[in-house]
Amino acid sequence: VMAEKAGFKHFMLKEIHEQPRAIEDTLRGRLDREHGDVHGHEIGLSDDDARSIKRVFLLACGTSHHAAMTGRYYLESIARIPTSVELASEFRGREPMIGEGDLVVAVSQSGETIDTLIAAREAKERGAKILAIANVIGSAIPRMADAAFYTHAGPEIGVASTKCFSTQLANLMMLSIWLGKRRGSLDEAKARELVEAMARLPLLMRDVITGTRQLVCNLAKRYRDARDVLFLGRGLNYPIALEAALKLKEISYVHAEGYAAGEMKHGPIALIDSAVPVFVLMPKDRWYERTHGNLQEAKAREGQVIAIATEGDESAHSLSQDVIEVPDVPEAITPFLTVLPMQLYSYYVADFKGTDVDQPRNLAKTVTVE
Ligand code: AGP
Repeated sequence: VMAEKAGFKHFMLKEIHEQPRAIEDTLRGRLDREHGDVHGHEIGLSDDDARSIKRVFLLACGTSHHAAMTGRYYLESIARIPTSVELASEFRGREPMIGEGDLVVAVSQSGETIDTLIAAREAKERGAKILAIANVIGSAIPRMADAAFYTHAGPEIGVASTKCFSTQLANLMMLSIWLGKRRGSLDEAKARELVEAMARLPLLMRDVITGTRQLVCNLAKRYRDARDVLFLGRGLNYPIALEAALKLKEISYVHAEGYAAGEMKHGPIALIDSAVPVFVLMPKDRWYERTHGNLQEAKAREGQVIAIATEGDESAHSLSQDVIEVPDVPEAITPFLTVLPMQLYSYYVADFKGTDVDQPRNLAKTVTVE
């Protein structure tokens, strides 16, 4: 068993460390660095489809839903297509206003999640085109879909999804670049910047994992007994805050909340006191100043503030207890890096608590029954 885990104590830790490789495999043959573009043959849509799509609906559950939430930013800001993101369980049975001209992207690691499958089926019946982003080849959702664009993370054993999340982000980014180029909504320079940044990702991710894991492990040790933990983020990193909280809940059984930083003063700020660790995701992006303001507010309420910030952010250092640094990358790329220390944090807390990390109580890897 140890051999299957390649020397790691748990599959989850192994899979966290596999992410640079998983991303490399998922990008292979798809990035077109020469033209600052994406090779679309594996996306399974025609250039005509790309131009005629009027709206995109992203449907997913759990961690895949968080990837889809960040994917919406890509589809809107890179491809400039109106996009909504929906929990599959809430979409189905709602008599959704969807039909011809709409593209549904069903995001699912297993390709077998019942709610996502049924939601996609309902959308198909109404005339929408269905694209699956899945990791398991030949699974139910890609089979019912009009096209399948696979992630190549390899089998994910841990119930807590990690490497599949980051490869889903990669596919959503590639889809957005491909659509943006064909629709004429993505300019040459920006496309090249994104493609080059994606190509660098495996290296950067490796650096972030090895560069942050000791600090993150120390933080997990310090805060393992906290009763509540808050994760705050804005924009592209709001879904990462949600994902950080989901990971912590599912494997360490610690109550955690992910919150849009801008919603803090509308309620949750009342939770903060000196016993509550507050993780603030604040890479240098268009939301930075405002998120920085939230960090100051959390600190003023004596929260234990930990910033996930861009390297060299002196202000983050002077205001927070600890800073987890990530390299400076184009803002659209930051979620690939900020999620890594968040996954590691939940892993180490769970390991310190001695929970069954790979098989947490009450959870199934794939929810195939109602
Ligand atoms: C992730 O850590 C969870 N165990 C869970 O939320 C999962 O992402 C969800 O069930 C969706 O699964 P899928 O991607 O296989 O559809």
